[in-house]
Amino acid sequence: MVSIAILGFGVVGSGVAGVLTKNREQIDAAAGDAVRLKYIVDVRDFPDSPFAPLLTKDFSVVERDPDVRVVVETIGGCGVALEFTRRAILAGKHVVTSNKALVAAHGRELLELARLHNVNYFFEASVGGGIPVLRPLKFDLAGNQIICIRGILNGTTNYILTAMREEKLSLEEALRSAQSKGYAEANPTDDLNGMDAARKLAILSDLAWGREVRAEEIAREGIQNVSLKDVECAARLGGKLKLICEAKLLPEGGMTAFVAPQVVMPDSMLYAVDDAFNAVLITGNAVGDVMFYGTGAGSVPTASAVVGDVLDAVRHMGKRRDISWSGDPAVLSDPMAVSGRWFVRRGDVAAIADERPAVLAEEDAACYRVLEK
Ligand SMILES: NC(=O)c1ccc[n+]([C@@H]2O[C@H](COP(=O)([O-])OP(=O)(O)OC[C@H]3O[C@@H](n4cnc5c(N)ncnc54)[C@H](OP(=O)(O)O)[C@@H]3O)[C@@H](O)[C@H]2O)c1
Repeated sequence: MVSIAILGFGVVGSGVAGVLTKNREQIDAAAGDAVRLKYIVDVRDFPDSPFAPLLTKDFSVVERDPDVRVVVETIGGCGVALEFTRRAILAGKHVVTSNKALVAAHGRELLELARLHNVNYFFEASVGGGIPVLRPLKFDLAGNQIICIRGILNGTTNYILTAMREEKLSLEEALRSAQSKGYAEANPTDDLNGMDAARKLAILSDLAWGREVRAEEIAREGIQNVSLKDVECAARLGGKLKLICEAKLLPEGGMTAFVAPQVVMPDSMLYAVDDAFNAVLITGNAVGDVMFYGTGAGSVPTASAVVGDVLDAVRHMGKRRDISWSGDPAVLSDPMAVSGRWFVRRGDVAAIADERPAVLAEEDAACYRVLEK
């Protein structure tokens, strides 16, 4: 029997407990062993939960128990989650996480610590929620030079921009709708300003090109200033405004990475990705375009990816999957220097231009890149 502990019994952690219980038979068969949840660590009490007997507030109980071989960290952030992850690895336990903030900021260091202690640190759920994308990128596409990664990696903003277009809502109204449906946090700052998407793009880029890409260094424009008029004018030209993450090798050498609203035309595979869905379009020099599409967040879909990682860890007890990237920072070129087409709106008039206007003097004006096919 393999014992598991979950740290953080919130949206994702409770989903993981549910999936481990509901799909017990399939999971045991896939693991070739009984996989059992032994502890759940959380600061809160859950007296009415069926998992109440497993709850503890004391992480050291998990840390000291040699039966616990895999720890699932779903606390979030870079505070106690970092401390518990380090301590779990030092205690010889595999760690699985959905915590993109932690992986983007400390992933390399934690992978190195895991290597030194012969355990795995897996984080499939940190990008694209339930969509399997990191493992295919790292292993199945390893025979390619990755040329470009484009994605819609934030379901909240994708939902907001879809609602603005389809229901003619202002940004504020669409945000309230997202919050009422549970798609947006009470504090949606990191979603709206593109930081959440930048963290995911950093993780994808680390794995694709083997060099550290710092989320803070990715050029970033959120959707805070997108107006209903922008969305409607883009629609009149046949396009959809979407928050796009893009990282790519440049023909003249080097690479760039940026997060920004872009106008997506119907010839792009990302055009049909609406509502809270996520997608990642990866271009390899052998495979061409491959798209990964699905539910990018939510309790049970995200738990699906976490449990997949738990099973990978259980099947590789005593062995390691070689996941790492160099600490040499990738040098990112200014995305503004990258040529392309631009959507330019002045008042109610919009057009697609081959160059970005040097200045947009009008008060009621906007300019967005048009996503290359
Ligand atoms: N929600 C999603 O759909 C989703 C999808 C993909 C990835 N993620 C990522 O997954 C992680 C978890 O997200 P979530 O939405 O599940 O967060 P959440 O609902 O806030 O759950 C985190 C849980 O950890 C608890 N916690 C806080 N400090 C703790 C401590 N010192 N010891 C033990 N437990 C502690 C929290 O309690 P309090 O509430 O009392 O603080 C809460 O119950 C984040 O990194 C997030 O970015 C989330």
